Amino acid sequence: MCPYHGWRFDPTGACQSIPSLVEPNPEKQALAHLRSYLIQERYGLVWVKLDDTPLSTGERHELPEVPEFENAAWSYVMGPPTPFAAGWRREVENYLDMTHFAFAHADTLGKAADYRLPPMDIRALPDGSFQMDAPFPALETPHEPPGKLQSAHRRFQRCWLPNFTTIRQSFTDGDERVLVHIPSPNTPESCTVFWSLAISPNFQGPPPQAQLDFAIRVLDEDRIMCENQRPREVPINPARGGWGVLVMPGDTLANMFQKQLRRWLTSEAGQVSTGQR
Ligand SMILES: [Fe+2]
Repeated sequence: MCPYHGWRFDPTGACQSIPSLVEPNPEKQALAHLRSYLIQERYGLVWVKLDDTPLSTGERHELPEVPEFENAAWSYVMGPPTPFAAGWRREVENYLDMTHFAFAHADTLGKAADYRLPPMDIRALPDGSFQMDAPFPALETPHEPPGKLQSAHRRFQRCWLPNFTTIRQSFTDGDERVLVHIPSPNTPESCTVFWSLAISPNFQGPPPQAQLDFAIRVLDEDRIMCENQRPREVPINPARGGWGVLVMPGDTLANMFQKQLRRWLTSEAGQVSTGQR
């Protein structure tokens, strides 16, 4: 039911009732037919199939599997959807980047104890996704006592194209966190970041709500960085140097994202998703 004027619709989008009509008027009701979309609910989010290619009975688009998000022994908290005045690829790049923490997040995560880039094991996977495994160096936290979240840990990132990216943090005591970011485009130069966080059982550190509040502050620092970059969206196919892009060693993962995204866009999955069929 529409909360504004009480019009009612069935699941196919057919209008069933317009309360303000004195007499039922099937013609007007027929004109009020809505477009409907296939959806599935998972990980606390509603996933919408925006293109209208039909699915056969029982078929569905599979989402990346993140078992920790559905494991009742873990704490699962949803972040507030966060609008960015920047293209969605800016957000993916920011999320993948290992070298901005000590600068963009100096007030929250802390300054780097060592600015050098850790060795990153980056590889493309057969399904088009890609991953990175790297040690995350300790940060010199401004907080007292030093926070668990800023301590040295192992960082495992995985990106399923186009925009579903998880980060698994494994701490030295065995505790873990898994975060996901899904920046959903609103316009070519703006997006909303949907995100959540799963925390392993008996996590020795800040409670879930404190971790969420902290992540909100960190994300806001990222938002400012993303919104102040020009162009507002990462070009899909920049000739090296053509955009004045200075590629640094820390951009290895961002380069992998661009390469795999270009591949994905010309694949069958990409062409369906972007309506270019
Ligand atoms: Fe960041």
